[in-house]
Amino acid sequence: MTDYERYKELSKKIADIYHASALLQWDQETYMPPKSAPTRAQQLSTLAGIGHELSVDESFGELISNLVSDDSLSEIEKRNIVQSKKDYDKSLKYTTEFVKEMSETVSAAFQAWQKAKAENNFSLFAPKLEKLVALKRKECELIGYDEHPYDALLDEFEPGAKTSTIETVFENIKPKLISLLDKISGANQNNDSFMFKHYPKDKQWDFGIDLLKQMNYDFDAGRQDISTHPFTTSFSSNDVRVTTRINENDVSEMIWSCIHEGGHGLYEQGLKSSEYGLPSGSYLSLSIHESQSRLWENNVGRSLPYWKKNYPLAQEYFSEQLVGVSAKDFYKGMNVVKSSLIRTSADELTYHFHVMIRFEIEKSLIEGSIEVRDLPTVWNAKYKEYMGITVPNDEQGVLQDIHWSHGSFGYFPTYSLGSFYAAQFFAQAKKEIPELNTKIENGELLPLLNWLRDKIHQHGKTYTSDELCTMVTGETLNSDYFLKYAEEKYGNLYGIK
Ligand code: CO
Repeated sequence: MTDYERYKELSKKIADIYHASALLQWDQETYMPPKSAPTRAQQLSTLAGIGHELSVDESFGELISNLVSDDSLSEIEKRNIVQSKKDYDKSLKYTTEFVKEMSETVSAAFQAWQKAKAENNFSLFAPKLEKLVALKRKECELIGYDEHPYDALLDEFEPGAKTSTIETVFENIKPKLISLLDKISGANQNNDSFMFKHYPKDKQWDFGIDLLKQMNYDFDAGRQDISTHPFTTSFSSNDVRVTTRINENDVSEMIWSCIHEGGHGLYEQGLKSSEYGLPSGSYLSLSIHESQSRLWENNVGRSLPYWKKNYPLAQEYFSEQLVGVSAKDFYKGMNVVKSSLIRTSADELTYHFHVMIRFEIEKSLIEGSIEVRDLPTVWNAKYKEYMGITVPNDEQGVLQDIHWSHGSFGYFPTYSLGSFYAAQFFAQAKKEIPELNTKIENGELLPLLNWLRDKIHQHGKTYTSDELCTMVTGETLNSDYFLKYAEEKYGNLYGIK
């Protein structure tokens, strides 16, 4: 066996442990009975410890170091080694004790958050979150950073991203978005009341499955289930699970979560199964992951061509609810722009303010300029400032997202970056795929999927986000594509000149 083959074997073994742990987490959020919680936390912590021990194993490190200077490797193999070396060096900064402590703290925080949210009582979550934030601050120091401690956390989700870069992106887009929103609020408003009629659960479920099938999500390599927070998880490219949620009084929740998670699922299913466990078989970053879900959700799913095909199907399922509503009305209704409390049900424009608020709060929390006990006050003040709305309670405010209970600080900005990447990629796809809009109108979504597979999915993590974006579109991330898309689309929708 060559050194590279041994490296592949060890990498697969590490991946097996992490994917087994991901399966337990999937179960925890879908089917696990409540009494199992403490034992499950212990099982996850044990696996996190084993995974960490394997990934910092000295002989694995030596193997990677030897391979760094191996000229016989192919270009992709070399890129895998460079990435694995980076991951190995980073793993060495954590002790097994720290990893297990983090895993246990996260499990406890997640349980506390669920209870706090159900009972609308932030104080039930606060002590666990305080411990978690203290550990996160410690993690920043362990990993190290050049400019801002938050950079260390961003790196986990968006390798190489800097707090300052994200600030620049947000500062660029903020005034332009505010100006567009002002014009929209001054225009005639569109009606979306038919979205909030009673839509039976079983019919919504069937409709969602139809939409996933049309996207070419592979049900022989995945499945959909119900969870409180929709998510996608993968145990290999041949087993990629998505979840959705169904609100009988708002059909849009199911539609957007199905298409969104379906987009994530297609990315994972498009990774090369022969590269399992290696960087070349893993997703690039969360921004790129989110670019895939947003492209399907927003650029495809919230477009008129998409509903020319799918609105008749919606009418078959929901003939009573949609009586007197045309495809155009439906399109207008699903794209109503309005400041709101809940991030996950926000329109695609005000969405970015939800993200900016969380980014600012996380940054302050990690640098220590605010504390956990200040969170509800700071949260509510920012919603007033950015959105002009009063948060009625913590359940709909600071407790709404799962992320902090998972210890995922540095995650939120990737949502906005993902939308901006999506707009840029989609603009390129339109240039390269003949008659893309007509194809979407006919429900032919395979040419778009094949383009994404070819340009993005198949590369896994062998390039940086900047490199990939340049390969696909000829330049690095440029949020002007998103603005152009938004101004055109919403200009038409609201009759703005
Ligand atoms: Co997503």
